[in-house]
Amino acid sequence: MPEIRPFEPQDGEALRRLMEEAFGPGAGGKPGEPLSLPDGCRAWLAGEGGAPAAFCRTVPDKETLALGRLCLDALFVSPPRRRRGLGTALLRAAREAARAEGLGGLWAYSPVELPPAFLAATGGRRRRALRLFRRGSLESVPYPRVPQGYRVRPAGLPADLAPAAALYNAVFSRMWNFRAHAARDIAEWFEGGETAPENCLFLESLAEPAGLLGMAVLAVDSSRLQRGDRTAYIPDIGVLPGHRGKGWGEILIASAAARARDAGLAALELLADTEDAAVCAFYRRMGFEERGVLQVYEWEVA
Ligand SMILES: CC(C)(COP(=O)(O)OP(=O)(O)OC[C@H]1O[C@@H](n2cnc3c(N)ncnc32)[C@H](O)[C@@H]1OP(=O)(O)O)[C@@H](O)C(=O)NCCC(=O)NCCS
Repeated sequence: MPEIRPFEPQDGEALRRLMEEAFGPGAGGKPGEPLSLPDGCRAWLAGEGGAPAAFCRTVPDKETLALGRLCLDALFVSPPRRRRGLGTALLRAAREAARAEGLGGLWAYSPVELPPAFLAATGGRRRRALRLFRRGSLESVPYPRVPQGYRVRPAGLPADLAPAAALYNAVFSRMWNFRAHAARDIAEWFEGGETAPENCLFLESLAEPAGLLGMAVLAVDSSRLQRGDRTAYIPDIGVLPGHRGKGWGEILIASAAARARDAGLAALELLADTEDAAVCAFYRRMGFEERGVLQVYEWEVA
């Protein structure tokens, strides 16, 4: 029978070992330093007596939570201990946690494909596949040339909150995980510490009809910075549907790269829906390289 328990501080070594087995050397943090879970994360360990042989971890991803789901960023069973119910037991624990928090289910983001038979056995399904793109060597991205009558500028708060929400809704309404934003949701972008107003860039038309036409947002993960990884992640970049195909996307990428350089950052990363071939082709044209695919799986709580 699988034994399962929530992570406790004394499980640090066991979790480190499993994280390195799942994600490779270094994934469990620095050897000798106690492994603790970042704020808001939860983990469960599973085994059948002896050292734990499996784990899963949830992270407080705001966007996933706002969509009523708990976000699972790791689910791993040590290969010799597979097919003994450990994966099922871990999922059950995470689903129970989701239910206890009043959430409708789980979304798991996984760099590896889970066996379809495991999904079928646990009532899960693949929701989406996202391609990770990365652009390093930002020095060679030309400085943006913004035509007269337009500008790219950082967010000004609170005046931009309502127009930014309207822009967000018009730009991203067809995205796979779209959720309509109000001014309050935009304000929350700046509360977590990853996104600063000066890293939230708007493309604006100054001529009539004046207004926002596009946006590019940079998020900086402080734990990555601490590890010496100077990568900025772009959670949102887009142009109003009626203004696409006119080079604004390239200007937004160049603006994001210029802002990242000014902030001492060295690379940009973003995720694109693998089903959106035009968007993937655009990032390749912009010098982004593919760095793998992230699968999104879903389980309902019921
Ligand atoms: C997916 C995974 C979690 C499944 O864990 P597990 O403990 O082996 O799964 P379970 O024993 O609970 O399987 C339940 C059922 O799913 C199905 N199943 C699971 N794995 C299967 C496989 N490889 N082939 C066919 N069926 C499978 C079976 O029906 C199984 O029941 P059964 O063994 O009685 O027939 C495990 O394969 C794994 O860790 N894969 C790697 C994931 C990874 O790399 N994570 C790191 C990044 S997040």
